[in-house]
Amino acid sequence: MKVERIPVLKIENLSVSFSQYAGIFKRRQVQAIKDLNIIVYEKEIVAIVGASGSGKSLLAHAILGILPYNASMNGTLSYYGTPLTEERTRQLRGKEIVLVPQNVSYLDPLMKVGPQIRKNAKDSVSKEKTFQILDRYGLGKETENLYPFELSGGMARRVLISTAVMERPKLVIADEPTPGLDITSAKRVMSHFREIANEGAAVLLITHDLELAVETADRIVVFYEGMTLEEVQALDFAQESKLHHPYTKALRRAMPKNGMQIEERKYTKGVTGYIEGRSV
Ligand SMILES: Nc1ncnc2c1ncn2[C@@H]1O[C@H](COP(=O)(O)OP(=O)(O)OP(=O)(O)O)[C@@H](O)[C@H]1O
Ligand SMILES: [Mg+2]
Repeated sequence: MKVERIPVLKIENLSVSFSQYAGIFKRRQVQAIKDLNIIVYEKEIVAIVGASGSGKSLLAHAILGILPYNASMNGTLSYYGTPLTEERTRQLRGKEIVLVPQNVSYLDPLMKVGPQIRKNAKDSVSKEKTFQILDRYGLGKETENLYPFELSGGMARRVLISTAVMERPKLVIADEPTPGLDITSAKRVMSHFREIANEGAAVLLITHDLELAVETADRIVVFYEGMTLEEVQALDFAQESKLHHPYTKALRRAMPKNGMQIEERKYTKGVTGYIEGRSV
């Protein structure tokens, strides 16, 4: 019997562009994301890997409906088969659909960690859940009484993740959740994402860390200048012959366990994308 996979997030033909001044009176459109298609199913972790500036955070912000004011967006985003309108996104944001932002400055500097994680809830169940999530990330009970400025970078990162995933979300968009974390903490975060996915959620994991992505995700989407160059099963990274695009192969060779061979090259001209080995 074939098990039907339920798509949680479907991104179709997404483009994001900015209007920029080119001279005093002229404006030009700069396209940062180009005709992007991604589906994330229930119980699945899809990792997006790609160079700095390739549009990963913009993608996260487009999904959450928090693009900068000078950006315009085209294409369709749907959640469980229904379009994510502005109104619907606003209702779901922070509840069913959560963002782990790239920057720890998203923490409220004037609010102690505990109330921040439990969104100011005062009941004992929420307090207990706060202790549990702090403990899961290796943070003691006393952390709840600290202000963000009293946290180290790694602690702030873990608090940021706790805040997002405290209530079991159905769609997690994690934008670089692990910088500044030691490997044990990073793996702990990944295993929590796996657990959330196993319980039925979809996780879109944006990361520079290909090694963690390959270990954690089910599928990997390779991003380059706002486009998908290749989409593969994470397992395919075990063998270079399973990868198709030269950039994907170069990323694989640059992984520490493959000898960190760095290749400087531009890949934009005459680019062909590959989805599961098929050229698109
Ligand atoms: N408000 C803005 N106005 C104009 N251009 C922008 C704006 N925000 C982002 N961009 C451009 O869009 C592109 C993608 O940016 P984005 O932040 O999504 O990259 P990223 O892949 O998340 O990079 P990193 O890995 O460094 O986090 C960049 O070239 C960036 O300069
Ligand atoms: Mg980013």
